[in-house]
Amino acid sequence: MPDWNPDIYALYQAYRERPALDLLTAIPRDLNPGEIWDLGCGAGEQAALLAARHPGATVHGLDSSPEMLERARGLGARVGWVQGDIASFAPAGPVDLLFTNAALQWVDDHPALFPRLAGALAPRGVLACQMPLVADVAWRKTLGEIVATGPWAARLAGVQGVRPSHEAGDYYDWLAPLCPEIDIWTTTYLHALHGQDPIVDWTMGTTLLPFLEALRDTEEKAAFLDAWRARLARDYPRRADGVTLFPFTRLFILARRG
Ligand SMILES: C[S@@+](CC[C@H](N)C(=O)[O-])C[C@H]1O[C@@H](n2cnc3c(N)ncnc32)[C@H](O)[C@@H]1O
Repeated sequence: MPDWNPDIYALYQAYRERPALDLLTAIPRDLNPGEIWDLGCGAGEQAALLAARHPGATVHGLDSSPEMLERARGLGARVGWVQGDIASFAPAGPVDLLFTNAALQWVDDHPALFPRLAGALAPRGVLACQMPLVADVAWRKTLGEIVATGPWAARLAGVQGVRPSHEAGDYYDWLAPLCPEIDIWTTTYLHALHGQDPIVDWTMGTTLLPFLEALRDTEEKAAFLDAWRARLARDYPRRADGVTLFPFTRLFILARRG
């Protein structure tokens, strides 16, 4: 697993927060959870919000990154922070709200994971999930091409980055046997980013992490990023006012157990 850096991840906090807040506001109002888990809680902002919104609930934030959890602890929120792997998440009892924002795209085997998460829910419990949908977008394709060509290709071939996303209908099929109420939608945010290389900066805190870690040295990293910058400049030209428009589609899933 890559080393997450909370400062770099926070660079575009306002943009990253927006889908998390959209997911939070979509949680059914009548849910009165006693047991809440935030899987891949990162620096803990949403787990803290959930704890404030549900003062009677026990709230846990799980993440594999010690750096992110250290930042989360600094919030002083009424949340139990747990270092662990979502892939082996096995709560002691049924969960009323499983919240997971921008994390499950890093976890393997969604056909097995989603039924397992639904199975962890209490009766009428809710799974609330958001993941980026980037398979068909230009920046992801050109990144894939840069990874697969050039002197680093052999070394990067085995690197596990963000897992390929599945069709929305697949998630419906995996959840429907246990969850009679399912709401799935996508939203495309058109981020207006400032700066010289905003897409590189954006991905530096997430998608690029495992590739940069596998590159040999500073020089190779610079060559890799230069190659990608050239492609990004073509596909996402900076506008006259200095803004780069960065469309970003996210998949939202709300599933409620019967
Ligand atoms: C893009 S960040 C999202 C953080 C937070 N949910 C948010 O929305 O701000 C992804 C987080 O998932 C965590 N993560 C990735 N794979 C994981 C795994 N298998 N188990 C636990 N946490 C994981 C990373 O450490 C990181 O903190």
